[in-house]
Amino acid sequence: MINRRKFLRHSVLSTGAILLAQQLNAKSNLEVKLPLVISTWAPNVKANKAAWEILSKSGRALDAVEKGVMVVEADPDDTSVGYGGLPDRDGNVTLDACIMDELGGNGSVMCIENIMHPISVARLVMEKTPHVILAGKGAFEFAIQQGFKKENLLTASSEKFWKEWLKTSMYNPMDTMKHMKQKRAPGSIDNHDTIGMLAMDVNGNLSGACSTSGMAFKMKGRVGDSPIIGAGLFVDNEIGAATATGVGEEVIRICGSHTVVEAMRYGKSPREACQIAVERMYKLRKNNLNDMQIGFIAVNKSGEIGAFALNEGFTYAYRLGDGIDVVKSADFLLKK
Ligand code: GLY
Repeated sequence: MINRRKFLRHSVLSTGAILLAQQLNAKSNLEVKLPLVISTWAPNVKANKAAWEILSKSGRALDAVEKGVMVVEADPDDTSVGYGGLPDRDGNVTLDACIMDELGGNGSVMCIENIMHPISVARLVMEKTPHVILAGKGAFEFAIQQGFKKENLLTASSEKFWKEWLKTSMYNPMDTMKHMKQKRAPGSIDNHDTIGMLAMDVNGNLSGACSTSGMAFKMKGRVGDSPIIGAGLFVDNEIGAATATGVGEEVIRICGSHTVVEAMRYGKSPREACQIAVERMYKLRKNNLNDMQIGFIAVNKSGEIGAFALNEGFTYAYRLGDGIDVVKSADFLLKK
């Protein structure tokens, strides 16, 4: 049974939107004012703002998550997503993304190169092909056919990081992460900034999107959790949605986002469900996980949100019906 905790939000929605939200709330016994959007990591308030432009005009959650994620994909200063993403060990920027809508539709691209907006290609895979996933060259060629431009995504700054890394070519992913953490965020364990975004529109429909350049200096061809439906993202419009950030290998091992949604299906709150996934991961791999970060965010069909991480430092950003940006630090498992 869905958690029925009651909470109030102020709203700036149109009368129609408020009515719809009230109808939804009458069913769920909540007084949440829709819409809502939630993203992994504090800097993604900018992505939420873009999503909000659609949601606040009673737009579809699917359009909102695509538009929100595109902001980060185009940001050259975000070294974990899209343009400016850190390359693989051979200097190629390879991108992974997936998207899910309220109708059970899903689309994904893996290891796509030279395309600025993999999330939009993933959406077209969902909408225009009989498939769910396109990978590598096939994904690129499909994007070009659909009118996307071929672009160089390796910025001078990311190239500099890569050349510096080449001096040692330290390849153990965890050592690489420790190294990058000192370069990018000294004193923090957070160096892996995949954007996962979930939204619920005024009709109470859920969608989600997830986009990343993956682990810095990964092996050529490495694919993380972000384009894998059920790992990096899962949406069930009857129950809720979840998305992940952090070390994809660990998220894949437990089908992380699907695990979160299934826990919500059996009555856990979003925050409890995220914690269950993190604890399962830890039980499986204990000693391997101390220095890495993995975080989940989730929303249930009643509009309740939650998050949980493996280690300290995972943040998330959201906007609910009041349109106010909120940034929170997630609770975490490994208290040092
Ligand atoms: N979470 C993104 C990745 O591991 O590639």
